[in-house]
Amino acid sequence: MNPADSNAARARQKRARILLAVIGVLLIAALTAFIFANNVSDWNAPPEAKVLTNPLPRDPALIAAGKALYQERCANCHGDSGNGKGNDSWKYWAKPADFSDASAMNKMTDGELFWKITAGRKPMPSFETKLSEDERWMLVDYIRTFSQPSAPADSK
Ligand code: HEC
Repeated sequence: MNPADSNAARARQKRARILLAVIGVLLIAALTAFIFANNVSDWNAPPEAKVLTNPLPRDPALIAAGKALYQERCANCHGDSGNGKGNDSWKYWAKPADFSDASAMNKMTDGELFWKITAGRKPMPSFETKLSEDERWMLVDYIRTFSQPSAPADSK
């Protein structure tokens, strides 16, 4: 190999290393953006959703109906006891919310819970078209029972 050839080979190797470094940086940036977009950011309902109030009476029959819906649609992720440890929860990087955490639940209004059930956020699906508004409100009342087990059924 003459010296000119080996210089050219070195230059090619250098370009390849730079290219690899650039790809590496881009991958890390993309991964970071993905993690932030999917998980770390707060999930906030808009102010007009927070002030919505539950149009349904706090009726034990409606709470029982909410429970049936919950077991069918939500328990696989959020768990039978609402602790966020449903059978499928291990599959998701974003952990299903723990409804038995009273301090977290007390920070959210009924309207906010309703809005989140309606909108969903990956991996949680949106229930806007899957459940009626009344069904979503029944779920709001039912998931409150995980952190307020002794709440009187008629307290509003
Ligand atoms: C595929 C799994 C999955 C299913 C099914 C699911 N969720 Fe979720 N849910 C999640 C995850 C994950 C989060 C956390 C999302 C986040 O913070 O980005 C969440 C968050 C929530 C929140 C917000 C709690 C908070 O602290 O902000 C509510 C309310 C909620 N889910 C209610 C329900 C209800 C009611 C159902 C059934 C109708 C349901 N979810 C079904 C996975 C699921």
